[in-house]
Amino acid sequence: MDTAISIAVDQALAYIKTKTDAIPSVGIILGSGLSGIGDAFPGVSMDYHEIPGFPRPTVAGHRGVLKVGPQAAIFLGRFHFYEGNPMSTVVFPILLMKKWGVKTIVLTNAAGGVNPNFIPGQLVLINDHINFQGTNAFMGAHDPQWGPRFFDMTTTYTPALRDKIQKIAKEKLGKSLDEGVYMGFTGPCYETPAEVRMASVLGASLVGMSTVPEAIAARSCGLDLAAISVCTNLAAGISKTELNHAEVVEFGKKAEASLQTILTGLVADLS
Ligand code: HPA
Repeated sequence: MDTAISIAVDQALAYIKTKTDAIPSVGIILGSGLSGIGDAFPGVSMDYHEIPGFPRPTVAGHRGVLKVGPQAAIFLGRFHFYEGNPMSTVVFPILLMKKWGVKTIVLTNAAGGVNPNFIPGQLVLINDHINFQGTNAFMGAHDPQWGPRFFDMTTTYTPALRDKIQKIAKEKLGKSLDEGVYMGFTGPCYETPAEVRMASVLGASLVGMSTVPEAIAARSCGLDLAAISVCTNLAAGISKTELNHAEVVEFGKKAEASLQTILTGLVADLS
């Protein structure tokens, strides 16, 4: 990772610290159509564009606001590779949280269901991933402040956190969440039916266009990590209809209440 990234992280943090003294223990990144969950958490809001080093998300459904409360930092909107961002920008919020002292990262996203039993609008707890984006944010110059050159990915999605989330789901939603492997594509097109069949053969339950780079960054930085998908649609070829972004946002909204319940429960548990 370039030293310019380290400088940008320092600038961003210095700015954030002029707005709040909080060092939240949990950082949550909200994906497509899920920004409304930010309203459930108290805190000081900053537009990404006012924070040095922060590009502004361009995709509909992403607001581009950082909300910092005593317990949780909420990133309303993320940076995608398909927007043309370098991978270092995609993982920027994770690096920032590492330097800030945040201990636990929770990633959320909208994803297509490869498992035909999934129902649009349901939550799926990610237990592993396949990086199919063809690159890695940590290629190039090695900066030891973000972790070792080579790092293990065996327990990227922290088992103890997954257990906590399942306990909260059982208590507050009456049932545990389905779990699955997320396969990250670059986008911005949705997958072809043949690609979805490939994903299925390779053991993926979900396909999406985010999360994998941030998960790799969290792991490199030694942060605890959980990731929850909203399965907004069945993936191409499994779905009877063509896919579109409006549907993704609409089904994202359907899952907002249950996702919010899990996230507020988890933040309370971890604080
Ligand atoms: N594929 C990739 N990304 C997605 C999908 C999908 O089917 N649905 C929501 N995000």
